[in-house]
Amino acid sequence: MLTDRHRRELQDLRISVTDRCNLRCTYCMPLDQYDWLAREQILSFEEICRLVRIFARLGSSKLRITGGEPLLRNGLPELVGMLARIDEIEDICLTTNGLLLSDSAVDLRRAGLHRVTISLDSLNPDTFLRMAQRGRLDSVLAGVAAAKAAGLGPIKINTVVERGVNDREISQLLDYSRKEGFEIRFIEYMDVGNVNDWTARKLVTKTEILSRISESHPFEPVTSERGSAPAVRYRFKDGSGGFGVIASVSEPFCGDCTRARLTADGRMVTCLFSPRGHDLKAMLRTSATDRELSEAIASVWVGRTDRYSEERLVAISSKEGYRPEAVRKLEMISLGG
Ligand code: GTP
Ligand code: 5AD
Ligand code: SF4
Ligand code: SF4
Repeated sequence: MLTDRHRRELQDLRISVTDRCNLRCTYCMPLDQYDWLAREQILSFEEICRLVRIFARLGSSKLRITGGEPLLRNGLPELVGMLARIDEIEDICLTTNGLLLSDSAVDLRRAGLHRVTISLDSLNPDTFLRMAQRGRLDSVLAGVAAAKAAGLGPIKINTVVERGVNDREISQLLDYSRKEGFEIRFIEYMDVGNVNDWTARKLVTKTEILSRISESHPFEPVTSERGSAPAVRYRFKDGSGGFGVIASVSEPFCGDCTRARLTADGRMVTCLFSPRGHDLKAMLRTSATDRELSEAIASVWVGRTDRYSEERLVAISSKEGYRPEAVRKLEMISLGG
């Protein structure tokens, strides 16, 4: 088992398959244009699978496919099928905004996808558009329904909570998720990338989220082991399901961070807030052997010291305060969260 300098095991691999997205969520990808990757810069399915085989032998048996928006990558079910045939892989999930899901849910399921997590910040078309800047809520809801019908569950919903924008809609989203049998996770607004204009004022903390929920939906903590999942989980006292909160700002979970990331252009990244990645594509395309690639990946993981969110919390609480712009980070679109 591969462990880093803080004794964290390599367990999960998050693979970004494209940097493009058909939404422009203000907290993630607010600009109209970016310097998109060119076709030849992006890893082919064969290159991705070769790296996944190597990661799997080093301990990552759980995969999450992300983007940008992963369904914009042509032939995604084919990639899922190739990944599902790798022996060591136990779990394959997809994080999507749902816009294109109604067309592909059945194909993805047939190809071997286990489950989906869908980003959904509001059930009101106006708030949806205010946050996503593009796209239609109807299409997302159709995508969610198609995923449910195709058996891509347990379905999780990701909701980024932003003060003054969707924070009054938590109860409505909870009712929807409970009725549909989904696990919704409310996510604290993070300062990902360099252009999302994060300020502490936009952040609604876990404490505040829980206090709002307790007014309408009595709940209790789920005490079973949390594992390395970022969400802290709760269940409704009436037994009708539950929800999660991802408190990466107010209660960082770096001590349990077992996730490696692979960007669409083949860089290995060990933290969501990293300034750069380690170029594996250059090795892939200059005839490195599997063994050389494996040694390179292992040495990146073993040397890893990341604990950005814990350091940020110290800075937020300090006299000088926290300045997100002081550190140049990779954009969320190349990391997929
Ligand atoms: P499962 O619990 O296995 O379903 O996956 P997940 O919750 O890790 O995946 P998902 O892509 O749905 O992530 C949910 C949210 O947590 C997103 O906003 C991510 O950006 C955030 N997140 C996931 N991993 C990390 C992490 O390592 N660090 C931080 N700070 N945030 C993370
Ligand atoms: N803060 C918190 N979560 C974010 N995501 C994207 N940007 C942010 C941010 N600034 C989440 C999306 C998506 C997941 C992959 O990352 O909700 O579901
Ligand atoms: Fe696209 Fe997801 Fe980012 Fe929204 S959060 S802009 S849907 S990648
Ligand atoms: Fe892991 Fe970095 Fe997130 Fe901490 S901030 S949990 S080290 S990805």
